[in-house]
Amino acid sequence: MHVWLRWCCRALVSLSWVIVYPLTYLLSIRRNRKCPPPANPLLMKSATTLVSMIAKRQVTSEEVVSAYIDRCKEVNPYLNAIVEPRYDAALREARYIDKMVASNEKTPEQLMKEFPLLGVPMTVKESIAVEGMSNDCGTVYPVRNPAKKDADIVKRARAAGAIPIAVTNTPQLCMNWETYNNVTGLTMNPYDQKRTTGGSSGGECALLASAASVIGVGSDIAGSLRLPPMFNGVFGHKPTPRLLSVEGHNPDCLDPEFEEYFALGPMVRYAEDLTLMLRVLRHPSGPQVPLEKPVDIKRLKFYYMEYDESYITNKIGPDVKKAFDKARAYMKHTHGIEVEKLKIKNVGDMFEISVRVLFNIQHIKNIYTDPQNRTGWVSLWPNVLKKMFGLSDHSLTAVCYGVVKKFFDTLPKSSYNNIVKQFEEIKQDFDRALSDDAVLLFPTYPAPAHLHYRVFSKFLNCGYLTIFNCLGLPATACPMGLTDSGLPVGLQIVANKNNDHLTIAVAKEFEMAFGGWVPPNKQSMITIKTA
Ligand SMILES: *[C@@H]1O[C@H](CO)[C@@H](O)[C@H](O)[C@H]1NC(C)=O
Ligand SMILES: *[C@@H]1O[C@H](CO)[C@@H](O)[C@H](O)[C@H]1NC(C)=O
Repeated sequence: MHVWLRWCCRALVSLSWVIVYPLTYLLSIRRNRKCPPPANPLLMKSATTLVSMIAKRQVTSEEVVSAYIDRCKEVNPYLNAIVEPRYDAALREARYIDKMVASNEKTPEQLMKEFPLLGVPMTVKESIAVEGMSNDCGTVYPVRNPAKKDADIVKRARAAGAIPIAVTNTPQLCMNWETYNNVTGLTMNPYDQKRTTGGSSGGECALLASAASVIGVGSDIAGSLRLPPMFNGVFGHKPTPRLLSVEGHNPDCLDPEFEEYFALGPMVRYAEDLTLMLRVLRHPSGPQVPLEKPVDIKRLKFYYMEYDESYITNKIGPDVKKAFDKARAYMKHTHGIEVEKLKIKNVGDMFEISVRVLFNIQHIKNIYTDPQNRTGWVSLWPNVLKKMFGLSDHSLTAVCYGVVKKFFDTLPKSSYNNIVKQFEEIKQDFDRALSDDAVLLFPTYPAPAHLHYRVFSKFLNCGYLTIFNCLGLPATACPMGLTDSGLPVGLQIVANKNNDHLTIAVAKEFEMAFGGWVPPNKQSMITIKTA
């Protein structure tokens, strides 16, 4: 696509600012209650630490699960992040684990080996099935349709001793970069209620960031394991394709290609828990990723890119720029490593390539999927018209998905084949540059969380996220501190396929250097108390 055409595209969307900006400002005025910071010290420990404490009988699972349930009840009125809690069942399961631990039949070492998530509470994005819990993914149905069985990764987490305490909010069918729907409503950012948590794993990250959860799972077809972690200052990891099974996700897809681009993955508050989670959740027949292999940061090559060169996305703002400068300065002064700018030929085309490739996936379940025939579609226009007259329970973005998909389906096949050829070249260039010993620092998004609904003039920035779905590379969203106004900022750490251990090692290093997750509103509460 010509650069001027891209500029037009950018300009058109930017024009919507005229409507979106004042409207979203007005809608944000009345939201200003501050989510209180966590007080219970049990909430400030990693899952890795909690497992060891439970196994060594320093704390009971019931105490830990109760602490998290209390915290969920405390913060949810500020966040609206929970779709459905499962507190009673969770407490029962915790007491069961405590009984097993107290029986002294197994040593702490045996317990930790057999149950790597022993007695730790977890939260689950509502789109991932937890038996008996809501799994409609923000879609309005006349009756409740609880999940019949656990998704593969939930099964693995529970077999390892984890205890689900709630399923959390998403946009309808995960089709937005903000989190609201007509079932649960709008989820708010713990650092500022006026702002979005991002999407689609927005409910998960709001709970993690407010210390109402310590480990969670989500899904990512266009950045959902990376954008909410950036907006909420926690860690998210989109794994190498097929490392984790995607079985049990709603929406699912009949196209086997889907798993090349779509992934489930962990989101956590402490970087060490990423390794723990992937070890437990990975599928035995997945790719051979050496998760436990020690990584010597000093022997890695470090690259960065501050702009995707598409002329469609916004350039990064001063807060994200500061995060890059900080990372580069740290690598230079602490490890003597010069972070080099990565140059990939035609990388600016990746925006169009990823949009075309992702919209070429067939048979993703969506609101137009014919309930009688999984490969068929019901008619588009009745839904579109109903939405236009405000008579639809479907989200605007879910309605638009069908229109955009149909548009791309009408484009000639030959133009798609050309795109694929170009894509292969770019993919090979990334593969050569990253090899098995390099990481790339890349923006997650140009700026920290924006006001609710501003996604409508900013959605083109998804190009920073979709590029790695399309390339199939593992990417860790890593928090890099708060802005002067107290909003989280982060960036993506990317590596070549099957090198998830490298991005996680660097995330652990940056957590040590820059502090990782910071509880929300801590500063303001301290000043209120001392005033
Ligand atoms: C869902 O949409 C209808 C209008 O179609 C509206 O009356 C209702 O309040 C909405 N429910 C929620 C929870 O937002
Ligand atoms: C289902 O829909 C597809 C696409 O419209 C069509 O080709 C197919 O024949 C339909 N199958 C049945 C059983 O109706």
